[in-house]
Amino acid sequence: MAAPVLSAKKYLFKTCEQASFCRRNRAYADLADSRGAAWDPPYVIDPSTVAFDSGVLQGTIVKTVTDSTGAPNNVEFPFQLVFLESGSARFVVDEKQRVESPIPGFPESLTQRRYNEASKWAVTGDLTPDIGAVESTTDDERKSAVYRVRYGPDGHFEAIVQAKPLQIRFYRDGEPHVILNDRGLFNMDQYRPKPTEMDESKFEDELDVKDMWEENFGGKEDKKPKGPESIALDVTFPGYEHVFGIPEHADQFSLRETRGGDGNHDEPYRLFNVDIFEYEVNSPMAMYGAIPFMQAHKKGSSVAIFWANGAETWIDITKTKPNPEAFGIRKSTQTHWISESGIIDVYILLGPDPSSVYQQYGLLTGFTSLPPIYALGYHQCRWNYNSEEDVLEVDANFDSYDIPYDAIWLDIEYTDGKKYFTWLKSMFPTPEKMMQALDKRKRKLVTIIDPHIKKESGYKVYEGLSKNELALKTDNGEEFNGWCWPGESAWIDTFNPKAVEYWKEQFKSGKYCGHENNLLIWNDMNEPSVFNGPEVSAPRDTIHYGNWEHRDIHNIYGMTFVNATVQAMQARQPRQRPFVLTRSFFAGSQRLGAVWTGDNAATWDYLRIVTPMLLSHSVAGFSFVGADVGGFFGNPTSELLTRWYQAGAFYPFFRGHAHIESKRREPWLPGEPYTSLIRTAIRMRYQLLPSIYTAFHRASFDGVPIIRPLFLLAPDNEDALGIDDQFFFGETGLLVKPIVQEGAMSTEIYLPDEEIYYDYLDQTIYQGIGYKNIEAPLEKIPILARGGHILVRRDRHRRSATLMSHDPLTLVVHLDKTGDAAGVLYLDDGETTSYSRGAYLYRFFIFNVQDNILRSRSMQASSASNKSFEKSIDDVRIEKIIVVGMDTDKLKTNHAVEAFQDRKSWTTDIHITEATDRKASVVTVRDPKIFVTGDWSIQF
Ligand code: GLC
Repeated sequence: MAAPVLSAKKYLFKTCEQASFCRRNRAYADLADSRGAAWDPPYVIDPSTVAFDSGVLQGTIVKTVTDSTGAPNNVEFPFQLVFLESGSARFVVDEKQRVESPIPGFPESLTQRRYNEASKWAVTGDLTPDIGAVESTTDDERKSAVYRVRYGPDGHFEAIVQAKPLQIRFYRDGEPHVILNDRGLFNMDQYRPKPTEMDESKFEDELDVKDMWEENFGGKEDKKPKGPESIALDVTFPGYEHVFGIPEHADQFSLRETRGGDGNHDEPYRLFNVDIFEYEVNSPMAMYGAIPFMQAHKKGSSVAIFWANGAETWIDITKTKPNPEAFGIRKSTQTHWISESGIIDVYILLGPDPSSVYQQYGLLTGFTSLPPIYALGYHQCRWNYNSEEDVLEVDANFDSYDIPYDAIWLDIEYTDGKKYFTWLKSMFPTPEKMMQALDKRKRKLVTIIDPHIKKESGYKVYEGLSKNELALKTDNGEEFNGWCWPGESAWIDTFNPKAVEYWKEQFKSGKYCGHENNLLIWNDMNEPSVFNGPEVSAPRDTIHYGNWEHRDIHNIYGMTFVNATVQAMQARQPRQRPFVLTRSFFAGSQRLGAVWTGDNAATWDYLRIVTPMLLSHSVAGFSFVGADVGGFFGNPTSELLTRWYQAGAFYPFFRGHAHIESKRREPWLPGEPYTSLIRTAIRMRYQLLPSIYTAFHRASFDGVPIIRPLFLLAPDNEDALGIDDQFFFGETGLLVKPIVQEGAMSTEIYLPDEEIYYDYLDQTIYQGIGYKNIEAPLEKIPILARGGHILVRRDRHRRSATLMSHDPLTLVVHLDKTGDAAGVLYLDDGETTSYSRGAYLYRFFIFNVQDNILRSRSMQASSASNKSFEKSIDDVRIEKIIVVGMDTDKLKTNHAVEAFQDRKSWTTDIHITEATDRKASVVTVRDPKIFVTGDWSIQF
């Protein structure tokens, strides 16, 4: 394992040992493992309570505890196993006593129940039970308290629930894929009165009573008025050696084991949103966001689980030795999920392949919302552009150096004293004029707005927040105050619908940034970051709307804040699609905007770690991801900066950013040859925008990410599962391998399948599974185009994405090994919501080797909105078609081909570069005079 580069202030953040619920559950796992087959967990299902009706199997799990008098006492945990219409299953367990009976002495200021709203925030999909699910328990099974339900598409899935030992197995086509409680680690801390005397010997059922009622960390006390509430469950993926997901961690893509050993971690992966200053790479430490989603993949199968819990969560991962009797010759992955509070609410997604898993997850938590196309261009940020002149000079320099960009960003220094919604008038006297100047060149302004509101009398935003009690509260019910950028601040509680309304007010047109419409927003510090709080965040006993404690919702808070901002921007610019960038996130945040990986550093290790991080986000539903290009802290060498732009051009979200103390590094500053190489990389991004946008469109309805792991296209190649330094890019078929080593002149790129691959830049052919050496001097981005895909470009250079909307298109056809290829193109107006009413163009291109014809066909339903959109772009031509890898002997003539559109046909010129030993042929159709709207074909 490479050594960490920066050293995070590790002591600021807990280890599992320092979080009592994690320590207890880990010890519980050790106890279970040490007992082996003799482990007799105290939780069993009471068979007399089990019933199946209308897609739901329910009953009660009973825990036998021994109270202080030694008498057994039964605690009841009602459960439901819901088979959803969308094909996934959901297992929910709550605690009867906290739901039903008022508990004497329970603090009145708090909700007695376990927090059960994580799904409410994360899940927007249909949770209707599937009445087509059928119980198929046999009589014998029922006698031994085993229950069986068939469900899912055509009844391919099956769940088998066993009462004792408590276990639920999920099968697809007769094979087990996910097992809940395989190791008997299911555990829920039942409510108990606070002991008057901490006498551990009296609590024999508990491994560790200490810290259950209060905990100290870093000199900060966490009063735990509700006592211990943790939940835990183990999940085994039988026969799966690789698991992925659970962002955010700066680690490799295939998750490591966490119980020590060579190359493994000693700590579980932690999900707890924190402002982790100078994070380490190759670490399971918590970062800014949390998506408790894990995918397991093996040859022939992909499955996943989603653990809908917003509290601090730790996940231990171990891999078993292959067990031929149980699950064949493969290793299995065992995971142990431990959360501080809330209910058990876990979704089981049975695939069978990666794209089905992403779709199933999207049907639950929603899909990436289609961004405005300019948000996919290049963004220029730094902490800080200091004045209006500064902003406009940077803007003008992009034009002088002929580099496109779409948005310039203002970090916190634009405000008056870090009071959001205000301007530092000495530096920004006329922000609206500045915005208008940007708008003339179709560029946007992004301002940062954070959730901490400066506590200052006379600051209207604070006064309203305070007066209306819309801020987080302390456990005494007073306004919670802490420190952040502005000094003493309050935090808006965006769980409260009234706070959301209040937030919307602040962004109103006319009130903030005048009536300008080229405004985009950046939400930062929303973990939330509280400089003087425990682990740089809000105390866990802080109170939110609904009388929930912060501990229950910590990982969800950041998403609610972005949700409020998105709503505010929708209210301000109702016709526009909003763009909001966030640092903190949770499951479902993909519906709201983009995310970046926070404060990295200008070193090669940080460039290297971006690819696996973006892959992890992507499989967990978050497609719109990026990282600070150039590295936030420090100063990159010109070589590193150039390589970072070359990589960043393929990040779904593409932004250069730098710390306030870093030297300026706008693309023209490194000078030649670097500036030209950076220009080339950014222009390559803009060329590919039609294909990138098309990929986002796909992500917005079926969840397939933009950054795609090798297994998405080569699902049966198990050797490729651990490869995380290259990826497929959107719908293009491009296989990108960013250079992340200083001084590299070449690289090894792995081909995961037997398809033919062409060097995207010079058409050199590569074929055969395995590593291929490819040249990669500084001027070259190693990209191979996989045969079989058609990508669409716009090759004219413009100043910004919006200015390209009527530019002609170029189709690049990379033929597969049989000589065929296909691709899609999605276009709409790029910025408004009218696409949701049908105003778009969606076309399918197919090249067929049998008749040597390239065809364009419509994939959209014909509607009035379609037609009117098509009319608005009926001037958009296909100006060039490039076919790579064609057998040129089959061409009818070597100088022309026939084009057909609108019942007319004509011949059009071609240019041929013949194949050589190493390089594929290139046939270029120049200006075929066809238009993108309407069907057409070209006969080669
Ligand atoms: C945080 C952000 C960083 C930003 C800075 C000042 O560190 O992660 O991107 O520049 O705050 O707002």
